Parts: sequence; structure tokens; C-alpha cells
Amino acid sequence: MGFVENCKIDWPCVALEHASLADRTTMRVGGRVRWLLEPKDPDELQAAYRAARNSGLPVRFLGGGANIVAEDGLWSGVVIATAAMRRIFRPMPGTSEEESLSARDADVRVAMPEPAEDPRLIAWAGCTMPALVRTTKGLGLSGLEGLMGVPGHVGGGIAMNAGGSWGEIWDHLEFVRVLSPEGEFQDIAKADGAPRYRDGNLGGRFVVGAVWRLEPAPKLLVQERIREYLQHKQRVQPVTQWSAGCVFKNPNPEVSEGRSAGRLIDELGLKGLTVGDAQISERHGNFIINRGKATASDVLALMDETRERVAQASGIALEFEVKRWLREDPPETSERI
Ligand code: EPU
Repeated sequence: MGFVENCKIDWPCVALEHASLADRTTMRVGGRVRWLLEPKDPDELQAAYRAARNSGLPVRFLGGGANIVAEDGLWSGVVIATAAMRRIFRPMPGTSEEESLSARDADVRVAMPEPAEDPRLIAWAGCTMPALVRTTKGLGLSGLEGLMGVPGHVGGGIAMNAGGSWGEIWDHLEFVRVLSPEGEFQDIAKADGAPRYRDGNLGGRFVVGAVWRLEPAPKLLVQERIREYLQHKQRVQPVTQWSAGCVFKNPNPEVSEGRSAGRLIDELGLKGLTVGDAQISERHGNFIINRGKATASDVLALMDETRERVAQASGIALEFEVKRWLREDPPETSERI
């Protein structure tokens, strides 16, 4: 560790030292990381990952930080963030999808087909969910409307198979490009993937980008569906407050008699419960919000307390949906959103 503590490493991309993780997560809590790397495209991402591995430091990946609570204090590792990899584009005529995903500059001299003729869309991991959905609205492509209002980046969304009552992000995927733990690119066709409930099941591989095949639809219809999803979300979830989305996965309905995690917490009267400045949302029992000055310790303690109370009352052991970045845990490469 002495080597890393005392030397500047020559990183192959933008690198920030002692960067704040609270600033990069939607819960706005947590400590700092020794090195935060921000590659701007898939090639830099690969180089950054290889350099991070060679440094001997533990590595974690960060997308939009919408599903992460990072412990307070300084974590002596490397976080590779996809925030600068925001590109979203349509495949160039005459190119394969694999080629499209690597494309960096669209050739403006080539006439693009109508979206109805080629309803595919490509996004790099750091593209935000709202940007992806807005693009489908502009092109008249249906299938991702339900993602509106889901925070985070598409990479994290695919890694954890973000979804809701409308469906899941994997539903319309054609293939996903990932970086393997050895630092190699791999393409996974949807048919070869095995996503599960809130789990892209990528086995420690990191999402670089993806291709969707969507349904051509009138733009106004896509827009209307987005509006409906958003309105519903705003009614039932604390969307404007700092949170990490749903804290727990919904339990097996056979075990919980069909009750969701939010409902179980609600039934126990736990809404409004606080630890420090962290609070169980009054609007939805499965959300913990940061009222302004919460620390990661407050949030983590409130999560444990909630889990314990549910277990005591019902015997149900809720499983975390939120990823907890504890400083001592061995990092999992796919942990991020
Ligand atoms: N409910 C309560 N009290 C509450 C919250 C919910 O009684 O405090 C009841 C509701 O009335 C409803 C049922 O529980 O009958 C289910 O609630 P809701 O429709 O809000 O959905 P959910 O199962 O709690 C899931 C996803 C959300 C997603 C919504 C909407 C999980 C863990 N959560 O929530 O995803 O936004 O459906 O599609 O799968 C996330 O992944 O971070 C997330 C928020």
C-alpha cells in the first residue's frame, strides 16, 4: 500500500484524488475515495480498469449513484465512474451492432434511416435514464417509457435490471457490452443473458453500453405514456427528495402474503422513523430519505433498524436492494448504479 500512498499514479483518464462519494450518489451521504477515475469512452474505461487493477488497489464501479450508500470516511480504493460516458446514438446504416457500439463520431454525410425502419438505439453506460427515455420520445420509439422517473444511469440500470410494474430495462435489450474482470470487452446477446428480479446477473462484469430494439410508435403516444408513469411515480414515491430508491427487494409474495416491502414497513407504523437526519419516507415505506444533514451511519443504522423490526414482527428477512459500500467489504465489480 505504501507505493500507492506516496506516489502519484499516471492514470489514463481524468482522475480525482480524495473525491467525495456523497456528491455522486442520490442519497447525498458517504465518505471519500482515494481515487475517482472518469473515463470518457469505452476505450478509456478499459484502460482505466487495467491501470486500476495494476495499482493493486481494490476497484469499484459507479454509475449514477442512485442505488448506493457509501460508508462515511476515506475508502482506500479506486472508483471508476461512468458519468462522462453519456453518449446515446442510433446505429449507422450498414454497420453491425457491434461496430455501432464502438462508433465515436457519427458520419453526418450518411442519411439515417427513419426510426421506424431501424428502431434500434444505442447508449453508453453513463447515459442517464431520463436522457434515454427523452430520446425515445423524440424518435417515436416505445418500450422504455416506464424508466422515466427511475434515477441513475443505464449501465447501473442494466446491471441491476431496474424496473417496476411496467416491466424491466432488459425487456427490449438486444445486447449488452460488458468489461470482464480480466479487462476484456464481451457482448452478451439478450438470449444469452439471465436477468432476474432486480439483478442483471452479469457475474461481476461491468456494463459498457447496450443496444435496444424498440417499437415504432406515434411520438404523442410515447409522450403520453411517459407522462402517466411520471405522474403515478410522483404520487407514490418521494421523487424530489434525496434517497437511494427502494431500500429492500420485495419479498417472495408466498412468504409475505403478497405484501411488498413498502407495505410491510408501513403496516408496522414505521413511516417517519428517524435516525439522525435519515428518515423513512412518509410517502413510501421502502424509501429512506436524507432530510439534509444525514450521514451514511444514520442511513445504515435506520436500514438495519427497519430490517430488524420487520423480522421481529413478521419473521421475514428483507433483502437489501440498495448496495452498501462498506470500507472493509471486498468490492464486487458489478456493484453500482
Ligand atoms: N404500499 C403501502 N405502503 C407503502 C408503500 C407501498 O401499503 O408505504 C403498497 C402499495 O399501496 C401497493 C404495494 O404496496 O399496493 C406496492 O407498492 P408500489 O406500487 O409502490 O410498488 P413497490 O413494489 O413498493 C416497485 C419497485 C419500485 C418501482 C415501483 C413502481 C421494488 C423493490 N420496487 O415498488 O422500484 O418504482 O414498483 O413500479 O421492486 C427501485 O427499484 O428503487 C424502486 C423504487
